[in-house]
Amino acid sequence: MKTRSFYLETHGCQMNEHDSERMAGLMEVAGYVRVDSAEDAEVAILNTCAIRENADNKLYGHLGRLKPIKQRTGLKIAVGGCQAEKDRDGVVERAPWVDVVFGTRNIDALPRLIGLVEQAGVPIVEFAEQFEVYPSSLPARRESPFHAWVAIQYGCNNACTFCIVPSVRGREVSRPTGEILGEVRRLVDDGITEVSLLGQNVNSYGRDLTGRPIFSELLRAVNDVPGVRRIRYTSPHPKDFKEDTALAMAECDAVCEHLHFPMQSGSDSVLRRMKRAYSRTSYLEKVAMAREIVPGLALTTDIIVGFPGEMEDEFADTLSLVEEVRFDSAYMFQYSKRPGTDAATMEDQVAKPVVQERFDRLLATQTQISLERNAELVGAEVEITIERTSSKNDAERSTGRTRTNKLVHVPANGWSPGDSASVRVSAASAHHLSGQPT
Ligand code: 5AD
Ligand code: SF4
Repeated sequence: MKTRSFYLETHGCQMNEHDSERMAGLMEVAGYVRVDSAEDAEVAILNTCAIRENADNKLYGHLGRLKPIKQRTGLKIAVGGCQAEKDRDGVVERAPWVDVVFGTRNIDALPRLIGLVEQAGVPIVEFAEQFEVYPSSLPARRESPFHAWVAIQYGCNNACTFCIVPSVRGREVSRPTGEILGEVRRLVDDGITEVSLLGQNVNSYGRDLTGRPIFSELLRAVNDVPGVRRIRYTSPHPKDFKEDTALAMAECDAVCEHLHFPMQSGSDSVLRRMKRAYSRTSYLEKVAMAREIVPGLALTTDIIVGFPGEMEDEFADTLSLVEEVRFDSAYMFQYSKRPGTDAATMEDQVAKPVVQERFDRLLATQTQISLERNAELVGAEVEITIERTSSKNDAERSTGRTRTNKLVHVPANGWSPGDSASVRVSAASAHHLSGQPT
């Protein structure tokens, strides 16, 4: 008999990566082994994202490609994640060959739903409005031997007018500190030395818990777990980022000098229409505060170009803020209309060619800044954690990450993933550094 096997593909953010590790863990406990292609699998699981529209087209295109495989091999297809939450019954309406549709709050049900569909032979669509079991308490198959995602909070209570996340991931729920620390201790026992704390809005962590723990206390508590070498977190919301978090970053040895600080726009009027609850000035003040408190801080950001009604002078404010802050790098997005969000019904949606032209200007500006930022490090000695070793032009090359979240390529030196190495930076591009072992 064929071994029971599954194929799993993940789209979207780190929260989805984290959820996928749980899906993989659950499937393994249920007796399945993971394979690299849907052709060889009994079950294909797609963990989807809904943040921008192209994800929609991609999912249904992808499902279209799985259909002939299913006809040939009897493959079962399960669709989970944010787009499943968004489309719900619509997934099987558009792609009736899909077998299981499940949500972000009932990942634990996946093996049961697959078992059910095998008996019932009709598609099963099942969602939960609240968690019965938190994904973090499910078995995991981790992607990395030394790094782990740790969810500290699910959902989001903000109301950014462009964003679909609150409607697909629900209200904010914080995990109790004791549970998080217990997980971190178990991870360290399993050999993990680096953790990334995940939440949609980490600085509002604990508001729904008794005793109202705050995020900076959590950072300090994770820092106190023996064996944790590096701590990262994502994402804070600028409106909720305060001095106590910057102080915890500066005072905790393991907390990395990197702040992902999504600005979205440099224009006060656009920020108001986005309901971001901060201004250009207050954003800049927080950047200055963080830089002053945390020496060597690297800053990255998210920016949306072409929000409804964005005028040329408003876009110019975004460009000038980017020039003023000089981010180490930025994720830049063209605004994408998401059904059900307030921005989707705003007037004056910006024409695609205008958005594209602005986006290109922003990309060129930020790429130059990233290059200059990285070039400042040439000659410096940095500590990296080795992530992988691969062959490039017949030579073995290792790639590591600095505490400031920059990738560094180095000639291989017998390192394994998770090793710490000291390297001297020899060259820089906008996207990575090159170095030599010291
Ligand atoms: N269109 C474009 N970008 C978006 N983001 C969120 N919603 C949208 C949208 N509708 C971006 C934001 C967010 C990042 C994760 O994705 O910049 O910070
Ligand atoms: Fe992550 Fe948001 Fe995409 Fe969901 S919609 S996977 S929360 S980025």
